[in-house]
Amino acid sequence: MSKNFDVIVIGAGPGGYIAAIRAAQLGFNTACIDEWKNALGGPAPGGTCTNVGCIPSKALLQSSEHFEHAGHGFADHGIGLKDLRIDVAQMLKRKDTVVKQNNDGILYLFKKNKVTFFHGRGSFVRAVAEGYEVKVNDQSLIGSHVIVATGSSARALPGAPFDEDRILSNEGALRIGSVPKTLGLIGSGVIGLEMGSVWRRLGAQVTVLEALPTFLGAVDEQIAREAHKSFTKQGLNIELGVTVGDVKVGKSGVSVAYKGAKGEALRLDVERLIVSIGRVPHTTGLNAESVGLRIDERGAIVVDAECRTNLPNVWAVGDVVRGPMLAHKAEEEGVAVAERIAGQHGHVNFNTIPWVIYTHPEIAWVGETEQQLKARGVAYRAGTFPFMANGRARALGDTTGMVKMLADAATDEILGVHIVGALASELIAEAVVAMEFKASSEDLARICHAHPSLSEATKEAALAVDKRTLNF
Ligand code: FAD
Ligand code: NAI
Repeated sequence: MSKNFDVIVIGAGPGGYIAAIRAAQLGFNTACIDEWKNALGGPAPGGTCTNVGCIPSKALLQSSEHFEHAGHGFADHGIGLKDLRIDVAQMLKRKDTVVKQNNDGILYLFKKNKVTFFHGRGSFVRAVAEGYEVKVNDQSLIGSHVIVATGSSARALPGAPFDEDRILSNEGALRIGSVPKTLGLIGSGVIGLEMGSVWRRLGAQVTVLEALPTFLGAVDEQIAREAHKSFTKQGLNIELGVTVGDVKVGKSGVSVAYKGAKGEALRLDVERLIVSIGRVPHTTGLNAESVGLRIDERGAIVVDAECRTNLPNVWAVGDVVRGPMLAHKAEEEGVAVAERIAGQHGHVNFNTIPWVIYTHPEIAWVGETEQQLKARGVAYRAGTFPFMANGRARALGDTTGMVKMLADAATDEILGVHIVGALASELIAEAVVAMEFKASSEDLARICHAHPSLSEATKEAALAVDKRTLNF
């Protein structure tokens, strides 16, 4: 006997679980299927983000930041500490607790919203008159609509598969049991910088090998330069423009042969190696072929601007489709699809999706960079304000970085905001709201900001666009 649903969501990461909750809120009889298992084999909804991504990485970033502050920052405040040490097992235990709180939170939200949760792998069986048959474990479900939100997985280096002991993906990187003396990272993208920061703060000697000749190519150049300066000063060794060759695993570590930027033959010997060279969309086990769901050469499910696949009433959202691989992008798509199913006009504005890198200093941006505006031939005005001149930043003892605002030269509309500095992740929200409401830099410059606060730097950057900063 099949069970019938209005909407079946496959995957309970941020794309899937949010889509399921919104669909249920809209009155649809909704099922959500997820196969992730916790250490005891039970359900662990939340996907990559909750289990091996956003949440555990931020937990470790927080612990390691406390450790670094205690070791290097407290003395300046007159706080003395003796015998400072890190208990890695406790740090990992706390991280696991934070993850479990989030898993349990999602199960609670499913109950609260009357979403029927199935723990197991969901796979298409066939198209039927009422929609699609989807199998989970031995159960047959029929859904009028299906939302695929099966996420992504880490990309391995050719010839160097993840063993999660010496060669680590994000999964292994989040459960290294003791601080390695030496740690290598391939790729200085978001994971490379965040995970590199965690283990450097705890005492590892960290080397990052990056193929591209420029550091953080997608980030505004001025901001990327400032961040690079900080990371180098902290002791992260970042080598750009390298070509990674053979990777050999030995008894006590990993040896990476590579060519330096000038073509010189080099070798990196490290205890452990994290490979963070991007992620690939995940459709394993979905049995997409059975219904003819189109998947492109990169492995992504092909969708239009509104997340419609090539099949009627089959939708796909999040990392498994085009666009940035970010949890909040997946969530927005999930909400929009549920609303479209309900005949509403769900909308995702790709121009105002914020990016955050949770290093220290944090890097956050929304909208276009100066190099993108130049490439598009847009006339713009730029304003920057350094945290060095911000009272709150001085009181915090954290004056690295700046806020940079880019506005259209003719209309003054804000086209991009780029921040490197403390709590950039929180500060960027104001810029997102401003851009969503098509604010001008003058609008932001005239809004009252609390004093003393880091957000005053955003107001001052807006003033700087018109060359009239008040505090610099
Ligand atoms: P996922 O979260 O990958 O979820 C997909 C789910 O579907 C999984 O639970 C999987 O088990 C399940 N599944 C797959 N196939 C099936 C099937 N056939 N049947 C049943 N279940 C199935 N993004 C941010 O915005 N901020 C961050 O700070 C951030 N930090 C990150 C840190 C790391 C280390 C990593 C790796 C990623 C990070 N990301 C971050 C990216 C973020 O995790 C992803 O963009 C997000 O998880 C994508 O959500 P999703 O729902 O599309 O897929
Ligand atoms: P990434 O795309 O951010 O960075 C990958 C880096 O590896 C790039 O700089 C690339 O040039 C480099 N690279 C690729 N192949 C290489 C090779 N063979 N040798 C050396 N360098 C190579 O990917 P990453 O860090 O794996 O993260 C995956 C995704 O997860 C991110 O794009 C992001 O969407 C998401 N994420 C988001 C976070 C956040 O929002 N704070 C945190 C972590 C991940």
